[in-house]
Amino acid sequence: MNYPESARIVEVGPRDGLQNEKQPISTTDKIELIRRLVQAGISHIEVGSFVSPKWVPQMADSLDVMQGIERSDHVRYAALTPNMRGFEQALIAKADEVAIFGAASESFSQKNINCSIEESLERFQPIMARAKELNLPVRGYVSCILGCPYEGLITPDNAQPHFEKVKQVTQTLLDMGCYEVSLGDTIGTGTPLYTEQLLKALLKDIPANQLAVHFHDTYGQALANILVALQNGIATIDASIAGLGGCPYAQGASGNVATEDVLYMLNGMGIFTGIDLDKLIRAGQEISQKLNRKNGAKVGVANKLA
Ligand code: HMG
Ligand code: MG
Repeated sequence: MNYPESARIVEVGPRDGLQNEKQPISTTDKIELIRRLVQAGISHIEVGSFVSPKWVPQMADSLDVMQGIERSDHVRYAALTPNMRGFEQALIAKADEVAIFGAASESFSQKNINCSIEESLERFQPIMARAKELNLPVRGYVSCILGCPYEGLITPDNAQPHFEKVKQVTQTLLDMGCYEVSLGDTIGTGTPLYTEQLLKALLKDIPANQLAVHFHDTYGQALANILVALQNGIATIDASIAGLGGCPYAQGASGNVATEDVLYMLNGMGIFTGIDLDKLIRAGQEISQKLNRKNGAKVGVANKLA
């Protein structure tokens, strides 16, 4: 097997994680979490999102968080923007990067952003145009790559048409100017063979360095699926400190794969990330305590016992 020599971890805990945590968390604590992540060597962080506070109240203070953090030149601080209004907020916040988010499932698109896939792509056009003028990198997301909370699981019958849909939306986002598309297993139902089939279909026409993987770990499949991604040359992995979070529009979805668990696996495989595991574990333990929540990182718990 060929594995990449190094991998890039995109830390999505402050956004994807905290957007779905029930316990309130102060802006100060969010800022402290981000500081600790940076101290641990994380170089790409999704700090928050500029979405309707009625839809996702936990992200209502994203501007304050962005303005409150002490910036490091080595770190890219990103924000999710569903429309021009969100994009303008991201500019005020001086985000280094924005992310637009589409889906491969019509029902999920409606529930998540209140419009069809087609309409969402139209909404993203002005963001892409303005970002290009400003030379601001834009990341794309495709949700529901391996199952949808409303339309169901991948089966032998629907797999190929679904993978074609994922590919079509991914390709459209890249054609629109996204530098990379993160493939979201929103509800964590994907298993390794379907992951392999999907990635093979995508990689026929899309270079591995334009793809990232974003696995929620609801069914405990994330690390196995990430291994498949690495075997296919994909070396950008989204993860959430302490396995925080879920998705407010995907009932029952648990958080992303824990960053600590991903890092432990990559370290064990000799894949370089530049991140300090001990510091990361401490950041995960601290945020879990603050949220009064069980640490979702197996490595974070194991280390406590050691
Ligand atoms: P809408 O209702 O269709 O939009 O929502 P609208 O233009 O009619 O506006 C409705 C209200 O929202 C208005 O306020 C607007 O002012 C306000 P009201 O008049 O009712 O007081 N509004 C905004 N406020 C702040 N910032 C904005 C903004 N835009 C409108 N940017 C909208 C459309 C997209 C806004 C809404 O559906 C929304 O905010 N959805 C939230 C989506 C979200 O954040 N989901 C979670 C993140 S995606 C995810 O987790 C998946 C991912 O992790 C990958 C994976 O795991 O698969 C990325
Ligand atoms: Mg997600």
